[in-house]
Amino acid sequence: MKKVKRFGVSLEEDLLGKLDGLAKKHKFPNRSQTIRFLIRNTLVEDALQHNKEVAGCLVLIFDHHKRELVNKSLDIQHSFSNLILSTQHVHLDHHNCLEMIALKGKANQLNELADRLVSLKGIKHGKLTMTAA
Ligand code: NI
Repeated sequence: MKKVKRFGVSLEEDLLGKLDGLAKKHKFPNRSQTIRFLIRNTLVEDALQHNKEVAGCLVLIFDHHKRELVNKSLDIQHSFSNLILSTQHVHLDHHNCLEMIALKGKANQLNELADRLVSLKGIKHGKLTMTAA
């Protein structure tokens, strides 16, 4: 287990109120956990901005009947196969498919792959979430 260090923090009253507001909103049990979240959030943002290695998940919803779309999507996925860890396909209903693509690589490459897939005709919605350890 990592050693935990304590330190004092001086904050203006209104800013401390905002910290407590964030804790409440995100259901953090205390200020320490809130500050951990904020630090890690900033580190992830920094990793994204500086095109560092990150992990991501691209979620796509598309029309099952557009077979051409599936072929195009697979072609694109094969050309970015170095980034793709796994793909899960779920048949949501008679018309719609959900695909979850787990990714690892440089942030810019993940964005490029996501843009290529989300812009395909027949994709109803797509969203890339990126994070870093
Ligand atoms: Ni399907």
